[in-house]
Order: sequence, then C-alpha cells, then structure tokens
Amino acid sequence: MFLKKGSTIVVLLLVFYQNTNSQSVDVSKRVDCYPEPGASQDACQSRGCIWTEAPSSSPVGTPWCYYPTESGFTVQSTGTNSFVLAAKTKNPYGNNISPLNVKYSSNGATLLLTIGNDDRYVPPVNFPKKPSTSTESLKFTSGTIGSSDVFSFKVTRASTGVALWDTSIGGMQFADKFIQIATYLPSKNIYGFGDHIHKKIRHNLDRYTTWPMFARDIGPDSGSALSTQNLYGVHPFYMCIEADGKAHGVFILNSNAQEVETGPGPHLLYRTIGGRIDMAFFPGPTPEQVVNQYLQHIGFPFLPAYWALGYQLCRWGYGNLDAMKTVISRNQALGIPLDVPYADIDYMNHYEDFTEGDNWSGFPAYTQQIHAQGLHLIVIFDPAVEVDYASFQRGINADASFIEWARDDQVPHNIQDQYPMAKNTKIMLGNVWPDRNTAFPDFLDPRNNTNAWWAGEFAQFHKTLPFDGMWIDMNEPSNFDTGTYNTVEEQLASAKLSCPITGSDSSLDVPPYPTQAVYQRNGEYLFSKTLCMLGKTAHRTRDFYDTKNLYGWSEARATYQAIPQVTGKRSAVISRSTFPSSGRYGGHWLGDNTARWGDLQTSVIGVMEFNMFGVPYVGSDICGFNGVSNEELCLRWHQFGAFSPFSRDHNSEGMPDQDPAVWPSVANAAKIALTFRYYFLPFLYSLHYNAARYGHTVIRPLFFEFPKDEETLNISEQFLWGSALMIAPALYQGQTSVHAYFPSDTWYSLQPETYGQKMFSGFNDVNAPLSSLTPVFVRGGFVLPRQSPGTTTTASRLSPFELLITVKTNAASSGDLYYDGGDDLIPNDDIEQHPRVHWQFSFTSSIAGGVLTGNCETCSTAVRPPTLDIIEILGYPSSPNFNGFKLDGSSVTLDMTKTSYNSANQRVMISARNMISLMALKKKFTLSFTNLNVYL
Ligand SMILES: *[C@@H]1O[C@H](CO)[C@@H](O)[C@H](O)[C@H]1NC(C)=O
Ligand SMILES: *[C@@H]1O[C@H](CO)[C@@H](O)[C@H](O)[C@H]1NC(C)=O
Ligand SMILES: *[C@@H]1O[C@H](CO)[C@@H](O)[C@H](O)[C@H]1NC(C)=O
Repeated sequence: MFLKKGSTIVVLLLVFYQNTNSQSVDVSKRVDCYPEPGASQDACQSRGCIWTEAPSSSPVGTPWCYYPTESGFTVQSTGTNSFVLAAKTKNPYGNNISPLNVKYSSNGATLLLTIGNDDRYVPPVNFPKKPSTSTESLKFTSGTIGSSDVFSFKVTRASTGVALWDTSIGGMQFADKFIQIATYLPSKNIYGFGDHIHKKIRHNLDRYTTWPMFARDIGPDSGSALSTQNLYGVHPFYMCIEADGKAHGVFILNSNAQEVETGPGPHLLYRTIGGRIDMAFFPGPTPEQVVNQYLQHIGFPFLPAYWALGYQLCRWGYGNLDAMKTVISRNQALGIPLDVPYADIDYMNHYEDFTEGDNWSGFPAYTQQIHAQGLHLIVIFDPAVEVDYASFQRGINADASFIEWARDDQVPHNIQDQYPMAKNTKIMLGNVWPDRNTAFPDFLDPRNNTNAWWAGEFAQFHKTLPFDGMWIDMNEPSNFDTGTYNTVEEQLASAKLSCPITGSDSSLDVPPYPTQAVYQRNGEYLFSKTLCMLGKTAHRTRDFYDTKNLYGWSEARATYQAIPQVTGKRSAVISRSTFPSSGRYGGHWLGDNTARWGDLQTSVIGVMEFNMFGVPYVGSDICGFNGVSNEELCLRWHQFGAFSPFSRDHNSEGMPDQDPAVWPSVANAAKIALTFRYYFLPFLYSLHYNAARYGHTVIRPLFFEFPKDEETLNISEQFLWGSALMIAPALYQGQTSVHAYFPSDTWYSLQPETYGQKMFSGFNDVNAPLSSLTPVFVRGGFVLPRQSPGTTTTASRLSPFELLITVKTNAASSGDLYYDGGDDLIPNDDIEQHPRVHWQFSFTSSIAGGVLTGNCETCSTAVRPPTLDIIEILGYPSSPNFNGFKLDGSSVTLDMTKTSYNSANQRVMISARNMISLMALKKKFTLSFTNLNVYL
C-alpha cells in the first residue's frame, strides 16, 4: 500500500468501499440487474444497481450487476387482501407504474395473487378456475425488506410454516414493458417450465440459468450439454418438492415474451415484457395433487378417441400415395400393431390447406380402404393459407379475421397488390410452405367468424378426404425469413414480410428489453421467424405482441371445436405450439427432434413434463425426425415410444425410411413392445379418462408416487403409467441392461424372461434385450384392466377383458376400468353426461382365500363392454381351489385348460368364457374363492 494511513483520501476510499460492501449480496442470491449483453460497472450503477465481480469459485452465471436487496415498491395504502404500491426503485426499461395494485384471494385451497392494474392486458384464455381442495392451506403475509420500507410478501404452507415464496430477495419491477419479480425458494427441487430441453427432470439450481419462454419454430437441441432455447410452446408453471417431501406448484398466467432465471439462493427471477402477473399457488401436498389443482384452474385434458392410442406411422416426403401404401402395408404384413397412417404436407397441392396434390389422386379411396381395416387417418394442416385460392376467398367472404397490420400505411403494397383477394385489406402477408404469400387466421377473433370459417373448411375438405384426426403444425406461428426495415422504402424493397426496427412503429417489435429469446440469437428480433409484433389480433383489439404465445393454443381450440361438424366423431388434434390449457383441446408431439441418442433420452423428460402441463397425450417422434436414424436407435426408441401416450414414428423429408419394417430386429422389437401396449390399452385409456374427468396425469415421474424418497427426485429416465406400471427403457447406445431404481414397495417384473418375479428395492441392473420387451414392472396393490391385443385397437376392443391383480402383502389391491363407445363425441365436453361404464375393482386376500369385488361407479346401458373372462394374480402365495369359485354366491366353472397356479412364481391364472358381465345392469359383483391346503 502506497497510501499513508490517516490521509483524507484513504478515509474516503474506505467509506466508499464499506458502503458498497454492506450492500453486496452473496453470490448465490443475486437478482440480475443486467440480463442483456454489455454489462459494465458504469452502466450497472447508473441503473441504481450494485456491481461486484464474482470470484471464479462462484456459481456458474453469477451476475456481477444486481439489484440491492432493498429495491422494489413501497406500500402506499392497504385494503382488504390488497395493497396499493408506489414505485421506489428505478426501472432500467421504462418508468415503473405507480400506483400499482396487488391483490390476493383464494379459490378453494389455491391462492391467487394479481400484481398489476385492471387496465393491463390479460390473456383471453377463459380458464374454468374450479376451486381446488387440499388437506393443506396457504397463507399470504406481507412485510418489508430488512429495515427498509420496501414491500415484500410471503406465501407459506400453514402446516409447516415453510415459505413457498418469499420476495424479500428484492428486485421487483413493473413498467409497461418490463415486469419482474423474484423470490427465494424453499428447496432446489424444481420441475417444469416449458417448453425447453431439460437434460434432467430436476432443474439445476446450483448455477444461474435463464429459460426464455416465447413460442418459436425451432427443433429441440438435445445435442449440446445445455440448451436453454425456448421451443414451440410456453408453460409458466413449476412444481417444487420441499425438504419434507411435500409438493407445491406455482403458475403465472401471462402470454407475453417472458423468461425465468433460476439460481442457487435457491431463488428464481421471473420477467415478462407485458400484461401483468396473475399467479396461482397450489398447496399439493402430493405432486399429483399439485397437478390436479393446476388442472382445476386451467382445465382438464380432452379424452382422445380410443384409436388415437394406437401406433401411428408418419413421414414427410412420401411424395405420392403409392409410397405411403407400400410402407403401411409392409408393416401390417409383419403383424406390427398399427392404427394411424399419416400424411404430412406433401399430400397437399403445393402446400395449400384443404387440397390434395396430383400424386395423391387415390387418397380418398385409400382412406376408405384403411377405414374398412379398422384404421384411422390423420393429416396435417398448417394455419397459414395462401391468399389466392378458394379457401382464402371463402374466409374473406365470411368476414373471417386474419392477423393484420395496425394501419393502412404500414401495408407493403408491393406484396399486397399482387393478390386481388388481399389487395384492399390490411392482412399481414407472410411466407410459409405454400408457393405464394399466406395469411394467418386470427383464431382469437371474439366474433367467432374466423373459427366458423375454419371449421367450414375442414368440413368441406372432409367430404373429399374422410380423415379422422388433425395434426396442426407451424402454429407458433412460424413465418419464413421475416426481415427488417427502417424506412418505407426499405420495406417496399423487400419481397418478404419485414418489420420496423426504428421509428415510432417499432415500439412493440423492438421493446426496451426483448428477453433472452432474442439475445440468445444474435442479430434477431422478437419477430424473427414469425410475424411483426405490431400486428393486430382478436379482431383488431389486441397487439400480436401480447398474444403471440397464444397462437397455437387458439388454433388448437378452433380445430378441436370444429370436430363435431367435421368428423362428427371423437378425434385427436395434435398441436406443435401449446400454452396452459392446450391439453383441453389436443395433444402434442415433442417437435422436430433429431435421430440421436440424446434426443431419445430427453424425450422421456418431455413426456413427463407435458403431463405436468396438463397435456398428457404426448410423445416424441420415434426414431428421430431430422437426420439419419439407425437400427439400434430406432429399436430402442420403439421400445420407449410404445409407452408414450402418443406413439408415432415420424421422419423428415429426404431421410432414409425408418418404419419398423426396414430392419427385422426393429420390426420384432416394435411388435413386442406395441403388442404389450395394445394388451394394456384398457389401462391406458382408463388413465386418460381419469385425466379428462378428474384432472390427473397419465405418465408420472417416480417422485410423483414416492416424493419422500429423495432418490426419486432426480430420476429422469424411468416413468410410470398412472400409479402402477413402471417403465425403465434402455436409452443409450450399446446398453444391454438398465440400472433401474425401485422405490421401496412391491414390484413384479413383466419382462418375459423374469415374469412375475419380485424385484428388490433400490437400484437393480435389469436386462434390456434388443429382442425382447422393454423393462417394465408392475407395482403391488393394483388391479389393471387389459384386453388380448389385435393388430388394431378396433380389433383389440372386441376381446374379452382381463384383470391383472398384483398382491401387496397386508394390503388390498385396487384399480378401475373405463369403457365407452371409443369414438363417440362428448357433447359440450361434459363427460358426466357421456354414456360410459366405469368399474372400480378391489381385491383382498387372506390365508383362507381371495375376494374380488367390482362396483360399477358409472353405468350406462347404452354401452356394451365385453365380458371379463381372465384374471391373473401375481404374488399369490398359495393355490386357490379352482373347484370352489363363487360369483355372487353361485359356482363358477373355470376353463381348466387355461386355469393354473404356479407356485414357483406365485402366479394364478383363472379363465372362464363369459365369466363376469361388465354390463351396466350388473352394477356390482363379488368373485370369491378359497385356497387349497389351508390348515388352520
Ligand atoms: C410425384 O411422384 C413422382 C413419382 O414418384 C415424383 O417424382 C414427384 O416428385 C412427386 N411429386 C411431388 C410433388 O411430390
Ligand atoms: C364458434 O364456431 C365454432 C365452429 O363453427 C363452433 O363450434 C362454436 O360453438 C362457435 N362458438 C360460439 C361461441 O358461437
Ligand atoms: C440422484 O441424486 C443422488 C444424490 O443427490 C445421487 O446419489 C444419485 O446418483 C442421483 N441419481 C441420478 C439418477 O442422477
């Protein structure tokens, strides 16, 4: 030190140093004040933020520029469950709104919180918001940060006092186009937020990570170690498992471009650039209850037609109908279960919706042919329609809305005037697959003209091509090559859609903080690969800036609502872009993945996450979409994909064929896995019914059933069907066994080589042969319905029912069976009025014998289910007396050629033709038996 002690300069420096130091925040708890590139000490401090370099030992991504803890708003006045706040801290991206309203309320056990004034934009999503129930309750308390007057709040779990949210970390902001709120979290066990590629199901909160949420046409990147890019949809929902295993969930309703930054506090920082913050806190206390409470709020999933649970085979680039026929029939010839052939965009005439290309002249006849075989057809539709053909003209005639420019003088007439049908409109023209310019239907048009026209187009086309399901793609919405302009001259010089980046018209397209969705992609804008944010939607009442993330959601709703007048039967809509409550209207495939092992691995996580998001009908493109697949990968992907609710092999244009029939080994493995799936379809369908009627998941991560078992909290490569069936697929090249975790419980193997064996708890290495069934295990204490499989669901549905009962010592076994017409509409989505039978089963046993009871919980005489003919019991310790079976007191004659007891693996098989009627008239039954060799 060259400075002399006691000198004035030294004292001043020390004072300055101490001031900074007293405010400095631990490297694990910083609220980032400079999320965009280019941070510097000067720029940081001029925002009123603190600059402290983080030592290299700090968590990855530690911000050097961060908000003082005592930053945010102060309380101006307090009302009943409400506050009026006044801005205190500078907002780097605009003036904070002041006064600012905060109010909270409860809806059953769910706690609702709104930050933002009534004049702020709220997404027009019309959630049902049914009040939730829970054994737990949440408490809202307000406070101030440190010794300051800065407002903060906590949401605590009443039973334990654990703070689920605690905003005393500071940093709250609320300007017109920059809103943020930060909170401490009670644990690092965070799940959800989407749509992203997560390499592990549990987020990594040991580092700072920002996840943008802004719907985008971009394929998942499972190739890099960490890719945070936002994919096709937006799901601002997460779940947290607290230290004691209790779960809660948090949902933020907002449809603007947004992002979340998670950090090691543990904490998170949520940012959005419009609307307001509408939060819902769900108390659980189990993970499944959290999802249930979330779905009470946003809406329960649709019930797919039964056939939609069958295997689906698709590719882009068949080129003509004959190629499609060849692929379909060669897989059928090998006995591979198959329900749904697909046609991708190449079936259309020059990619125009509602048309057929020249190479597809026999398509309607072929569709009738596959219908006669019990198969169903799904074809693709894109939202954007070319503006020079009949479909668009009918839209104009029907006064349907399309996304528009805000003003006439923004319309580029060099493009517009080429099209007589669009010439005198403000419709914003883009370029997607069709040869010429396209318009984007405005599915948020509150007058319903657009949706009525859309439904009419489907209905008219359906008369030509009797498809059964609709696959809606490109609905982020995607627009190719969106350019930029500074001046009208520049705009007119472009042959493509371009958006303003300077001047007063650019305020929505180039907002003060465009989010990481933009910063991550150097040189891009919010409108890149989509339409200009200044566009108008909802029939000129909203800015596209606000509603962009709702585009796929609104198209899915319009398409779903068209079904009654199109096919007149229950169907399935598959949408690429999703938003909370998309599951009410359709399912989702995980997008344009790549034929890589990493993509197979992340598929498992994606399927589990979309179940948390209320979109249980989900799966990845089996074998991988982009790139060249290979035999081993395609085989393993079928072994996994057979257990995705949505199970489809799909391939990109120009890639070699990858349908199972290409390789004998893949055909064999696919047949085995899919035959198992078809056998258990009644169970899978019953899970979908429970999702649609009660708001449940179909696929569950292990921690959903075992949240107090810490080991389950990061298991990303195993999953459950409901509570009972556990799948541990092989996901790595060269793998011959799976190091699978068995939570402490009773588990039986269903793999043929070890069938019926009990599995030890903890980690087991289980064989994963290429030539046999995926490792799949059933949990003790359940009753699973199944039907002997055919090669179509249509055939399988005619088989007699069977029950698989799994014994858990000293516990009853239970399960249910749902059955209905399979493809009959559910008018008004009112499943309570839908003709159906729903049986609940219970099995108990003692040293003396066993009793199976069935109780028809909902019984409609209009539905005629097959009889229950076969019962299998696993883990039954002694042989039943097969001469002593009684059904409701009367003797049952069993078919002794199919009835047996195997003491080696404790397996009972009971069979009798037409043994138990499951018709509505029955209402209930009791099947009882005694054991042989009972010495009491
Ligand atoms: C139609 O089929 C022919 C013959 O297979 C093929 O060469 C051509 O590319 C196809 N046309 C289209 C538009 O796919
Ligand atoms: C809007 O149109 C669709 C399609 O015709 C129809 O199913 C729906 O019921 C209509 N909604 C309203 C509110 O009229
Ligand atoms: C999960 O985490 C535990 C400890 O936190 C670790 O022992 C285990 O290996 C992890 N399991 C997986 C599958 O990552």
